[in-house]
Amino acid sequence: MLAKVRSCAVMGINGIPLEIEVDIADGLPAFDIIGLPDASVKEAKERVRAAVRNCGFSFPYSRVTVNLAPADLKKEGSSFDLAIAVGLLAATGQIPRGEALNSGVFVGELSLDGQVRRINGALAMALSLSELPDNAGLTLYLPQPNSTEAALVDKIAVKGTSSLSQLANYFCGNGELPAPDPINPQSLSVDGAELDFSEVKGQETAKRALEIAAAGSHNVLLYGPPGSGKTMLARRIPSILPSPTMDETLEITRIHSVAGQLDSNKPLLRQRPFRSPHHSASTAGIIGGGKIPQPGEVTLAHQGVLFFDELPEYKREVLEGLRQPLEDRTVTVTRAAATVCYPADFMFIGSMNPCPCGNYGDPRLECRCSPTQIFKYRSKLSGPLIDRIDIQVEVPGIKFEQLQQNEPGERSADIRSRVESTRLRQRKRYKNIKVASNARLRARHFEKHCPLTNDARQLLHQSFQNLNLSMRAHDRIIKVARTIADLENSAMLEASHIAEAVQYRSLDRQG
Ligand SMILES: Nc1ncnc2c1ncn2[C@@H]1O[C@H](COP(=O)(O)OP(=O)(O)OP(=O)(O)O)[C@@H](O)[C@H]1O
Ligand SMILES: [Mg+2]
Repeated sequence: MLAKVRSCAVMGINGIPLEIEVDIADGLPAFDIIGLPDASVKEAKERVRAAVRNCGFSFPYSRVTVNLAPADLKKEGSSFDLAIAVGLLAATGQIPRGEALNSGVFVGELSLDGQVRRINGALAMALSLSELPDNAGLTLYLPQPNSTEAALVDKIAVKGTSSLSQLANYFCGNGELPAPDPINPQSLSVDGAELDFSEVKGQETAKRALEIAAAGSHNVLLYGPPGSGKTMLARRIPSILPSPTMDETLEITRIHSVAGQLDSNKPLLRQRPFRSPHHSASTAGIIGGGKIPQPGEVTLAHQGVLFFDELPEYKREVLEGLRQPLEDRTVTVTRAAATVCYPADFMFIGSMNPCPCGNYGDPRLECRCSPTQIFKYRSKLSGPLIDRIDIQVEVPGIKFEQLQQNEPGERSADIRSRVESTRLRQRKRYKNIKVASNARLRARHFEKHCPLTNDARQLLHQSFQNLNLSMRAHDRIIKVARTIADLENSAMLEASHIAEAVQYRSLDRQG
């Protein structure tokens, strides 16, 4: 007696269709799972055995073999329990075989009493299954708490179940399965950001730089003495970023679903992520890792912001690891079990003090650091990383009079509306070249999309000679100037745009 049912595994952010074969043969009673299962999959035996019995079915007193195909793919996790149990019930004739069973894809973890527990990656599975060429007629059966998230994909039928007996009764024609919970409209509304730029007093230069950064998706380094508001400014960036498009929303939600970070009350993430991992985080935590690689912070920040507060405190290995995602917008993590490529397209924001004690350059306070200490502190950021930062902006210590000022600054919502219209202009301009924002432009696009006036060209030339700017600063300046011009709705890059962009290369000049 053999039964075959479909299931799905998750690799990276993709769902991989699996076939689960359950064979019941004569012989001494045994229960084996083959097809490269890891220890967590092998434990399914005990869960399935108990769940089947506790739901009032009989567990065969024979030799049971379960094969997870394709057999060359390493499997981990507990989400195959439901498919194994359904296969077993079909092979023993306790539920009828037929079209409904053949077109079902089953995922879910079982508890010993037969309840079906939520799993990670339901949205990724639903999206991948809906992209299969022969997806017509497929129905995805999954845990009830995951059904709302999977039902976001309209090209595939989704049914939730809360227990094995409920599912078995459905196949026996003794009841219906509940419809996926409707999406709570409140969970769809974007929370009004609690943090607002109007709370930041003074720091007009830094605010302007962050507006430009948000408008063109540029990477930023904020540097200045302790307590000047660097962390405060960075935390407010999400409040001025444009709201994600529906495709971006699905991408963000898919990643968080795979990482198990999706709240069942909030099945759709309508806000851009803001990730600020602590500097003690491991390379695997930031870049991605694990036996079968899991997404790291760079991937969780996809379509949002990755913020490294106190940048020089991070391990060198971690900072070096950022090079690939900053360049390619994806990250490839290789482990013995698998190589996985994750998306990692984020805006990078770093903050740092000018020296270890933080007082260097402050006219009021004395710096206690030796030149060697300062050099060592700054050299952690040298080369490749600083190379990928478009905007370097000083956040100077704030004066007492400025703090006393009661007039609120400009609200985030107003800044965001300018950012939105600037992004729209970029999307229109780059619709044929697959570039999402000015920061993603390549040098080969400059001639067509970044025309300079004669004055602007002359100023750029002079800046290079007089300020001793590096060649690598050139591309950054053009891209930032393009965004500044876009904020003014100017087609040409003018001298004033170049002048402002040059200002944001202050660390290059010192180095
Ligand atoms: N421009 C400002 N307007 C209003 N409050 C401010 C401003 N700058 C700093 N503060 C106040 O000072 C506190 C410390 O600021 P913040 O943590 O952002 O400083 P920082 O530059 O990150 O310092 P550090 O280098 O020590 O991390 C803030 O929580 C806020 O209350
Ligand atoms: Mg800080």
